[in-house]
Amino acid sequence: MRVLGIESSCDETAVAIVNERRERIAELVLSQLKEHRPFGGIVPEIAARSHLNQLDRLIVQALAEAGLTPHDLDAIAATAGPGLIGGVLVGVTMAKAMALALNRPFLAINHLEGHALSARLDPGVEFPYLLLLVSGGHCQLLRVEAVGRYRRLGTTVDDAAGEAFDKAAKMLGLGYPGGPAIEQAASRAAAAGIDPKGYGLPRPMLGRPGCDFSFSGLKTALRQRAQELSAGGALPERERDGLALAFQETIAAVLADRTSHALEMSAAEGRGLTALVVAGGVAANRRIRQALDQVARAKGLKLVAPPADLCTDNAAMIAWAGIERLQAATPGSAGGDGLDFAARPRWPLDPTAPRAAGAGVKA
Ligand code: KG4
Ligand code: ZN
Repeated sequence: MRVLGIESSCDETAVAIVNERRERIAELVLSQLKEHRPFGGIVPEIAARSHLNQLDRLIVQALAEAGLTPHDLDAIAATAGPGLIGGVLVGVTMAKAMALALNRPFLAINHLEGHALSARLDPGVEFPYLLLLVSGGHCQLLRVEAVGRYRRLGTTVDDAAGEAFDKAAKMLGLGYPGGPAIEQAASRAAAAGIDPKGYGLPRPMLGRPGCDFSFSGLKTALRQRAQELSAGGALPERERDGLALAFQETIAAVLADRTSHALEMSAAEGRGLTALVVAGGVAANRRIRQALDQVARAKGLKLVAPPADLCTDNAAMIAWAGIERLQAATPGSAGGDGLDFAARPRWPLDPTAPRAAGAGVKA
């Protein structure tokens, strides 16, 4: 079984062909970073137009690299939400058109389901596991029980973790995307022996019941500290790097605390887990991985992270989610979604999850 996956919900145009033996036969990711960088963030209209300009060419290229024709594909899967709707529409429309022309199933994949199942593509974890999904758009803890069975234990009440990194970096004049820039500045501060505790940043939600996240108070505190330390002039480099270290330490502590709670909640319900999985762009951060590794070990679990190219947005995870959906479908059923499936800007993976306390809850 070979499935074509299409991902266009954010600022990566990605196409992949994956088979049921977990082989990634072709994989292409085109980042729009350069197009958005002058604006310090993603501009939805630019993203949608860029997906439209690139997608057909990428599909042709992926097929050529795999030595396949469109007729060799068994199904077409595309991210159908949640995400920036202009881009999602581009991918969904392409997938539907191909499915119709080739007479193959069309699979509308929830982007979060793609992330949730990516660790089964590589390295191949067994159900059930706890997933911490931390990216620019998402920050949630999900118990992944089976294909189509996801229980959301916690989510952010304001910003996603990656979004917090990006905003903090902007505030400190460290550029976009913020995560890698903050990590570098933090390493410089650590090497210089700066004590992050000296900055007195608050640790939001730490020790609170449940496992929701909140980062906006931290952001405000960071802005205030930066203003105080710049005393009307420019922020000295040493203080800038020190604040980056303090910020990263705080996020690591908060993610570790919330994840630890989620593991305890699962244990209290008597549910064994096979692993703690971390995915999303923020999973690239070494300090955060280290903190999560400690949490997992303390609970007798291993920390599993898919390889970096599967952690950030990609189409292989979308094709793989399609394969898992087809394999889980009742024999004899078409296994796909109707061509009238409408793209969704919002699409919670677990619609029964209570809303986190606070407004503006993400996906
Ligand atoms: O998963 P991703 O590539 O795209 C989505 O948001 O879906 O994640 C990008 C996010 C950005 O916010 C970026 O700042 C963050 O991941 N990020 C990091 C690091 N590398 C990327 N955050 C912290 N530390 C890093 N090393
Ligand atoms: Zn994503």
